[in-house]
Amino acid sequence: MEKSLCIYYFSGTGNARNVAQIIEREVWRHNVAVQINDISKTDRLHIKSPQSNELLVLVSPVHGFNYPPIMLHYLLRFPKGNNEVMLMNTRAGMRIGNWVTPGISGISLYLSALILRWKGYKIRSLYPVDFPSNWISLHPALNKKTIDFIYHQVTPKIEKAARGFLNGKREFTCVRECIIDLLVAPIAILYYFIGRFVIAKTFYASQDCTKCGLCERNCAIHAIKTVNGKPFWTFQCESCMNCMNNCPQKAIETAHGFIIVIAIAFSILVSSVFDRYLPVITDSKWLKFLLENMLFIAYIAVFYRLLHFMLRFRWFERMVVFTSLTKLSFWGRYKAPKQ
Ligand SMILES: Cc1cc2nc3c(=O)[nH]c(=O)nc-3n(C[C@H](O)[C@H](O)[C@H](O)COP(=O)(O)O)c2cc1C
Repeated sequence: MEKSLCIYYFSGTGNARNVAQIIEREVWRHNVAVQINDISKTDRLHIKSPQSNELLVLVSPVHGFNYPPIMLHYLLRFPKGNNEVMLMNTRAGMRIGNWVTPGISGISLYLSALILRWKGYKIRSLYPVDFPSNWISLHPALNKKTIDFIYHQVTPKIEKAARGFLNGKREFTCVRECIIDLLVAPIAILYYFIGRFVIAKTFYASQDCTKCGLCERNCAIHAIKTVNGKPFWTFQCESCMNCMNNCPQKAIETAHGFIIVIAIAFSILVSSVFDRYLPVITDSKWLKFLLENMLFIAYIAVFYRLLHFMLRFRWFERMVVFTSLTKLSFWGRYKAPKQ
């Protein structure tokens, strides 16, 4: 039977899509039939079984030391099979001199490998790719020179990995990073159950928004809805950064100043009220941890409502916008190179 390969990918800002396209090109060069699927554009409830003997490649960014929920849930629904699989992630590569610093995969590759193994697939390669970080709600966007440098360094490695997979080579060198990956595993779990919701809720559209609807139309998960004529980020948002990086008006911001103020207020609340009165109720550290976290979630929910209510007032909106680091011109937006 002729060899063929099928690539499934999810990409927020283009890095994982570029990996998929680099592999597609390399596989074509070896005269092997290849098919490429953007999972955000396919039916994720009724997934077709891959052909038997077809090689499978899955690519997705790392979000909070794990695959993002869209990819994890896709894998959980993936039909059973016994194909050979290469699992890849794209993570936050940075540049120091002539060195591309690695991101952290966390449990992304191991958990996905376990899910697919449990479904009968043969895991042949776990391959992390250090493409430029797109997490611009956290740090300024990398400049074009750095982005081009990282792509130039990393692309030949992806091509080599693709050739290796075609030739039946096993590739598990990333297991060398397992200690750091396991150390961050608790954060990955907290991110999945709590962190991603909190981060999703830090986005808002400023009054520079022209209501063009691009963010809503391009959102892979349909997580942005129009509320009172403006985009609104629902709990489904995976913070993939597509909207923020591609808004033509740069009107999508993260409420940094507001977050800092409410974080300081929360720590004062905990130290002055909680720490004083809780020992009266319980001595248990675990119960304290649980109660503090529950209080934190309730607190965030209240302040989130307040933020969106107050954003209707121009003076408040301007204050939030100008205390957002994303508003500063050096912060920029991330643009992945086109393949
Ligand atoms: C919300 C969020 C969380 C992220 N978490 C991690 C992480 O845990 N480890 C890491 O190395 N990179 C992390 N990154 C960086 C992205 O994985 C990386 O930039 C990736 O190449 C983006 O791929 P994409 O352009 O296909 O979306 C994160 C990015 C975002 C937006």
